[in-house]
Amino acid sequence: MTHKIDIKNLNLYYDEFHALKSVNMVVGEKNIIALIGPSGCGKSTLLRTINRMNDLIEGVRITGEVFLDGNNIYDPGMDLYELRKRVGMVFQRPNPFAKSVSENVAFGLRVAQFKNKKKIAEIVERSLRAAGLWDELKDKLNRPALDLPLYQQQRLCIARLLAVEPEVILMDEPCSALDPIATMKIEEMMVELKRNYNIIIVTHNMQQAARVSDLCGYMLLGEMIEFNKTSEIFTNPRDKRTQDYITGRFG
Ligand SMILES: Nc1ncnc2c1ncn2[C@@H]1O[C@H](COP(=O)(O)OP(=O)(O)O)[C@@H](O)[C@H]1O
Ligand SMILES: [Mg+2]
Repeated sequence: MTHKIDIKNLNLYYDEFHALKSVNMVVGEKNIIALIGPSGCGKSTLLRTINRMNDLIEGVRITGEVFLDGNNIYDPGMDLYELRKRVGMVFQRPNPFAKSVSENVAFGLRVAQFKNKKKIAEIVERSLRAAGLWDELKDKLNRPALDLPLYQQQRLCIARLLAVEPEVILMDEPCSALDPIATMKIEEMMVELKRNYNIIIVTHNMQQAARVSDLCGYMLLGEMIEFNKTSEIFTNPRDKRTQDYITGRFG
């Protein structure tokens, strides 16, 4: 059976530093996966391997495989533009472009040489709706995105991804710059989105992982210590190190 994502014996080195150690992880269809663990354990590094964002970092060496729908994304023939369209990413700090709200959402379509204005407007609306922003922003489509409050900027960045119809959405601590109300809204949106997308979220907030995720991976010093159903991780961890972390004895 082909999995959406199948990470096999993945190692990553930053020069001499062994940052990911034989990581294995299998993701089926349409789940929210949370990656947790103390700062510096490799969560962001692992997330970035899934759309080859680490390729942009000097001195990175990778061994092992990351299969997306059965194809190894590290095969030499991989089209990185296509890959990053299929596997989109949201970061800690929202990073909208210095353009209007609608131009931000339409950005990927323009890059893809989309010309049909009516169709673009439809996709902008659909994407903003999916990100829970349409009602808030429908009268502000021409306003500069950078004038929006952070919580709207972050959801706008998500809408920008949705416009190009990704299959997987990677989120690296997407709520760390947001207050609890804005965080709750993002979490509600994630639960909506998982009907159509696979989501992998890095979070240092264990309560968030417990609230939103279906599967959860606990990482420590570059290793995937335990990867299991979220309910199991939080109520019945198999590994003593997971238990120490989730009970607050460590980390
Ligand atoms: N660009 C880089 N160059 C060298 N070392 C890095 C780089 N990025 C991360 N690291 C190191 O790799 C380890 C994992 O980092 P990271 O994936 O950012 O952890 P996390 O997201 O869990 O906090 C850390 O020890 C960090 O210092
Ligand atoms: Mg990180």
